[in-house]
Amino acid sequence: MKIDIMTLFPAQIEAVLGESIIGRARAAGILDIKAHNIRDYSEDKHRRVDDTPCGGGRGMLMAAPPIVNCYNAIISDLPEEVTPKVLYMSPRGKTFSQEDAKQLANEEHLIILCGHYEGIDQRAIDHLNAEEVSIGDYVLTGGELAACIITDAVGRLIPGVLPEAVCHEKESFEDDLLEYPQYTRPIDFMGMKVPDVLLSGHHANIDKWRLEQAEILTSQRRPDLYDKYFQRKSAAEEAKKRKKRRKTTTAE
Ligand code: ADE
Repeated sequence: MKIDIMTLFPAQIEAVLGESIIGRARAAGILDIKAHNIRDYSEDKHRRVDDTPCGGGRGMLMAAPPIVNCYNAIISDLPEEVTPKVLYMSPRGKTFSQEDAKQLANEEHLIILCGHYEGIDQRAIDHLNAEEVSIGDYVLTGGELAACIITDAVGRLIPGVLPEAVCHEKESFEDDLLEYPQYTRPIDFMGMKVPDVLLSGHHANIDKWRLEQAEILTSQRRPDLYDKYFQRKSAAEEAKKRKKRRKTTTAE
């Protein structure tokens, strides 16, 4: 997968995405992630990229020309029929979720635009047909950390990035449940013991305990998620009962 990140601070992107699992996936050629410095595309002799807002107001805005020039350079080698999905990191966007990460992981090529100052000239956003994405209801100093978060969440879903595909199966947000508590050795740590069931070797009981724990945690911490889970579970149980009833009636 290819991800191009348009930013005024490429070093900030590299500092985060050059390390650990994503850094290794890049080195292995599984993820092709590049940070492009928008300032390199300024036509101004002082390499300026910002200006004051038309109509007045506080702060500075990122001007459209360097952003559009940077975008044109990124897409210049692509065949004409290929239009990568463009995201603009902004607190004004739709809040990013695990479901969005899964959808984006199906894309071959993403372009992420990071904003700074008080925002970006709307014409740049419109020209790039950029989808605005927020990582939560708070305001960051710029879009770089948000872009790193999206890249990490999407990148780890690409086959070969994590050691095993199985890693995705029982983790938070799959099935609308938060992950159950996990333990490793030592069995007794400062008097706090690993729950007996996890040492029993009885896999059905372990699965049952983990599901119960996940349900308890989710209902306490994320009642919104728990409602979704509960509705889906009830619908699945109802469908199972209907199927069973149908089977018995045909057998009679
Ligand atoms: N830029 C500033 N704040 C942001 C947020 N919450 N999400 C995405 N991009 C941002």
